[in-house]
Amino acid sequence: MFTHTDFRNRYDAFWKKRAHSMVPPIPLVPQNDPTTLFTGSGMQQLVPYLLGEPHPLGKRLYNVQPCLRSQDIEEIGDNRHTTFFEMVGNWSLGDYFKDEQIEFVFDFFTNKTYGLGLDPNRLYVSVFSGSGNDGIAEDETSIAKWKALFAGVNIEAKHVRLFDEETGGKLGMQGGRIFSYNAKKNWWSRAGVPENMPPGEPGGPDTECFYLFPSVPHDTKYGENCHPNCDCGRFIEIGNSVFMQFKKNADGSFSELPKPNVDFGGGLERLLAAVNDTPDVFMTDLYMPILETIESVSGREYADETNKKAFRIIADHIKGAIMLITMDIFPSNKEQGYVVRRMLRRSIWYGRHYLNIGENFLEKLVDPVVAIYGEVYPEAAREAEKTRKVLNDEETRFRRNLEKGMHEVPKIAARYQREHGSGGTGNTMAKTATGRMLFFIYESYGFPPDLTVAMLEDKGWSFDKNFEEDFQNAKKAHQDKSRAGAEGKFKGGLADNSEQVLRYHTATHLLHQALFDVLGAEVKQEGSNITGERLRFDFRAATRPTPEQIAEVERIVNEKISAGIPVQFQMMPKEKAEKVGAKSFFKEKYPETVKVYYIGTTLEDAYSKEFCGGPHVANTREIGSLTITKIEKIGSNVFRLYAQ
Ligand code: ALA
Repeated sequence: MFTHTDFRNRYDAFWKKRAHSMVPPIPLVPQNDPTTLFTGSGMQQLVPYLLGEPHPLGKRLYNVQPCLRSQDIEEIGDNRHTTFFEMVGNWSLGDYFKDEQIEFVFDFFTNKTYGLGLDPNRLYVSVFSGSGNDGIAEDETSIAKWKALFAGVNIEAKHVRLFDEETGGKLGMQGGRIFSYNAKKNWWSRAGVPENMPPGEPGGPDTECFYLFPSVPHDTKYGENCHPNCDCGRFIEIGNSVFMQFKKNADGSFSELPKPNVDFGGGLERLLAAVNDTPDVFMTDLYMPILETIESVSGREYADETNKKAFRIIADHIKGAIMLITMDIFPSNKEQGYVVRRMLRRSIWYGRHYLNIGENFLEKLVDPVVAIYGEVYPEAAREAEKTRKVLNDEETRFRRNLEKGMHEVPKIAARYQREHGSGGTGNTMAKTATGRMLFFIYESYGFPPDLTVAMLEDKGWSFDKNFEEDFQNAKKAHQDKSRAGAEGKFKGGLADNSEQVLRYHTATHLLHQALFDVLGAEVKQEGSNITGERLRFDFRAATRPTPEQIAEVERIVNEKISAGIPVQFQMMPKEKAEKVGAKSFFKEKYPETVKVYYIGTTLEDAYSKEFCGGPHVANTREIGSLTITKIEKIGSNVFRLYAQ
């Protein structure tokens, strides 16, 4: 078997040889980044450089970035989706472009000696078809390059136009190898299609690679005919080269970035599966030890089709949860902690219901996860004891509710339907669950809606067509403003990367230092949160700040703003960062190489220095001004401050 370690070694050597520098990964939960709950792609830490700032490690970069896409949680169970994954990436920051990138990808994928040795006959690609609205044309350069590369291995690569999934299902393969699709499939930004991009967000057309697994038959549930973007699982996407050329403007138009960039991302798990010629990412050494432990705990076999979904859900969720607990993200009812809770509760339920695991078992899965990532993420081993305890506590607590819930949820649902009908959408079918009903169960029993859905589905319930939206609306109505903000991030992964958010982010650093200056060295950041409308900063201090002290803090911040100080950063070893006095966030665990943002002309005499992923404004003057609007006490010696 080709192991993940073999893969990492080849990936490393390939890019080093081509003069690329390795960028250290950022934590799974990005620090001080108000825009996302989790790191969802390798490019996340590179946004400022894609927009034109020079990167200290140069113009050619690569890395392996742990990612978590919690919005995919309910898709888990097939052969290729996972919430936690590692994204391998390479970047050209205004250096090489389409021709070189496509050649690198083809070479790495197919070369038998230093690459992955994938069969080019099973490789299919997609390109951007162009869009009518903004005049961006079909990607002819990429089409020509792919044709030439395939010709080099004696494959005549026919280009066909499918435009979208629906047409694709009708037209099918048509003997093609290069397929044009519209922006829904072949445009990449963190927010998706061009219309959804917030101002300031970079994006562009992309070219994706798919690997064909002939052993997987096409499933007509997904359309009459198969094609690379069909969801049946016969084609698996293994890599995406984004040609990041554009930035969205405030008026909705696009401008060309000063220099066009390349942003490549591929799932390590999927690439490894392809090398090992299996369409199932769980059949690689990144998951097998976990599956084996589930087999021994349950006495069931993964090979048995009826068990597969539950095995995959548990193996995926436990891995993500362990990674998060390792960095002190504990099960809770909000933000990242809520994701951990859902992952654990779903694992317990799937284990209990489908594999008949009646006793606590999650803590037994720590060892295989630690063994898999031994050298890659040694912190998982260091924190293993703590992790086991957190898992065990959460499992014990939830199992108490679960036994009762499995019994009662269908009854509560039936009663709820009798009392409230089946919702306002005119759906009068028997046993139809609505979003409000799911919310009622969530509120009463702490059951995440997906779990309730799974339980009810099992008892023959169907679901009102708007149930997801209605659940979210019911939940929102019950949340205070800040919770609602967090849920926004939850859904799309990306909330707001506007200029205003950048301003507040830099202002937060100034505020942190000013509080320190005025209230003393015991001031400690407890958390921060930024929206397009205000910043919020929680801190610990010995006594409640007086109005005079707050006025002084505000005065200092505004003085620094009008002084027009540059905002810069350096990458450096963690030790050095600590030595120069950069403030770190004590709740966060940092990698060996960290990024330090400083506000000053030099690092040495900077006014503020913080461990931080960015992004920030380039100069404090861009902040305009800052007013502290409110201060309140939120805990013993913990205060919350709002500013605009
Ligand atoms: N950033 C691109 C992706 O996530 C490569 O697919």
